[in-house]
Amino acid sequence: MLDSFEKIPVRISQTPSDGVRLAARQIAILIKDKQALGLHCVLGLATGSTPIGLYAELVRLHKEEELSFKHVITFNLDEYYTIERDVYQSYWSFMHRHLFNHVDILQENIHIPNGELERDEVKKYCRQYEEKIEKAGGIDLQILGIGLNGHIGFNEPSSSLFSSTRLVTLENSTRLANARDFQSISQVPRMAITMGISTIMKAKKVFLFAWGNKAAIIAKSVEGQVTEQVPASLLQQHPDCTFFIDLSASVELTRFKSPWLAGGCEWTKRMIKRAVVNTSLKLNKPVLSLTTNDYNENGLSDLIVEKGDAYEINLQVYYMLRDSITGWPGGKPNVSIPTHPERSTPYPKRCLIFSPHPDDDIISMGGTFMRLVEQGHQVHVAYQTSGNIAVTDEFVTRFMDFAVGFEHLFEIDSNKSQKILAEAKEYLSSKRLHQTDSPDIRAIKGLIRRCEAKATARYAGLKDEQIHFLNLPFYETGTIEKRPLSEKDIEITMQLLRKIQPHQVYCAGDLADPHGTHKVCLDIVFESMKRLKDAGDDWVKDCWVWLYKGAWQEWDIDEIEMAIPMSPDQVVKKRFGIFIHQSQKDAVPFQGSDTREFWQRAEVRNAGTADLYAQLGMTKYAAMEAFVRWHY
Ligand code: F6R
Repeated sequence: MLDSFEKIPVRISQTPSDGVRLAARQIAILIKDKQALGLHCVLGLATGSTPIGLYAELVRLHKEEELSFKHVITFNLDEYYTIERDVYQSYWSFMHRHLFNHVDILQENIHIPNGELERDEVKKYCRQYEEKIEKAGGIDLQILGIGLNGHIGFNEPSSSLFSSTRLVTLENSTRLANARDFQSISQVPRMAITMGISTIMKAKKVFLFAWGNKAAIIAKSVEGQVTEQVPASLLQQHPDCTFFIDLSASVELTRFKSPWLAGGCEWTKRMIKRAVVNTSLKLNKPVLSLTTNDYNENGLSDLIVEKGDAYEINLQVYYMLRDSITGWPGGKPNVSIPTHPERSTPYPKRCLIFSPHPDDDIISMGGTFMRLVEQGHQVHVAYQTSGNIAVTDEFVTRFMDFAVGFEHLFEIDSNKSQKILAEAKEYLSSKRLHQTDSPDIRAIKGLIRRCEAKATARYAGLKDEQIHFLNLPFYETGTIEKRPLSEKDIEITMQLLRKIQPHQVYCAGDLADPHGTHKVCLDIVFESMKRLKDAGDDWVKDCWVWLYKGAWQEWDIDEIEMAIPMSPDQVVKKRFGIFIHQSQKDAVPFQGSDTREFWQRAEVRNAGTADLYAQLGMTKYAAMEAFVRWHY
């Protein structure tokens, strides 16, 4: 039975891999059942970052459990227009890379819209695409992702319910989101050929997948009004549609966001905090000013019945908020404050900051980083990946020019570096639009970021021996798609942890990273810590792990367990620290959908957290960085 708020059945799994396994099993059954009847199974397929895991699981089922695709016919939802079929970013390449090259599907059964057509051929082609689907017996199962604006396929908001396969113009927000696959937004095609909404609605069964940062649009699609402005909401009218989402993508559903509205909830401390904070922000009233009436009129009468007085509840939440604020991220030495987020002993602490990319430390926790150093802790920073794909080609020749000039200046034989510079120039000048960099160019780009990171860490007060570059191998693909984490990644990380034996670890708890790099980096730290604990490393018991969010968003205010205030001067000091990352200023390659510079994002976000605390009735600071503790 559907929850009253949810108009589409939703399968929520702990992680994307769990969801993918569940769905892949159902797809395998469908394929086998049809095959047993001597029929083809017709699958509608999607591209994008979402279904990659699903295709990997289908490939696994093919290789390990004899799932055959010989009787499968596929129709892809969409393709950029125009795009050459063979370039890395085409959906044709994507599908072959992730699925078709690894299973026994027959080439003639694969259909992907053609992005190379002449303009005057497109209309007819689209009509024929629809006819081919019909001729194949219609789509048995349509797989979908969802855009942040609710698009399905490339049916952008306002697409008609009756639309069929056609040429469409992509919204700017979609082009920005997809810019992560291209060097820059200007290279993202402006149009696409996509199946229409009616094509999708005709599928007998629909599975839509969403992971990570899609929570807001998922809630709108599942619980909101059916409207062409949110194309995925039209699926509420499909007779057999299921959404497969992970925990992160589920958090805006009423049953999680405001479970007290979805019928009964357990009033744990955390739940009380969330309910009161939400109500306080909604009514724009400080926590201590909420009345019994406010509780009753905002779905919280249950809480009043259970806990009695509004005033008592207000106070309880007020103290929780107040106690999360501290200027001592490493704990305040020589005093005992049981409600403080961190322990006062040992002092000083050994702190290890993991930074997925070379600038996440300063962007996401620069103020805290500098405070830890100033307060006498022994701080180490570990840059987990080289971050090389986010450097433009221009930087390569600029720095190579410097290297050659440096040698020339000091009469060092510069023949070798001149040769490397000449080769780099030659390579870059003949580089094709979507071509991946050579290992040499990648190495130079990595070096540029490494120097910037070193300079920033020094600026924060670290000595060179406190700065570590892990160069985790999972990242080194030269493209936006990364490998899954490997034993080597964990080994490297465990080695560093063992060497430092930190009392505090900071890492990016960011599940909404559009490239997925933060998530893999986090999984690597978690796995390493768990293994060290299981191996009986004693220091692990006394090591607290604090999670900061990456550059894209902040923790919800009710989740925050440690908030570090910053003075206006500290805000400026952090800004200059971010500026050191020159290769990341202005437009960076693979920027994604947010066009603001990193220092701007950081300042808006840190000031926003401080504002929210102030709205709730706390002291107003200029800015705040926020952390959540991970218990393992
Ligand atoms: C791709 C497609 C799009 C994507 C959507 C989400 O074939 O049809 O609708 O599913 O843009 O993209 P990701 O999964 O990259 O977030």
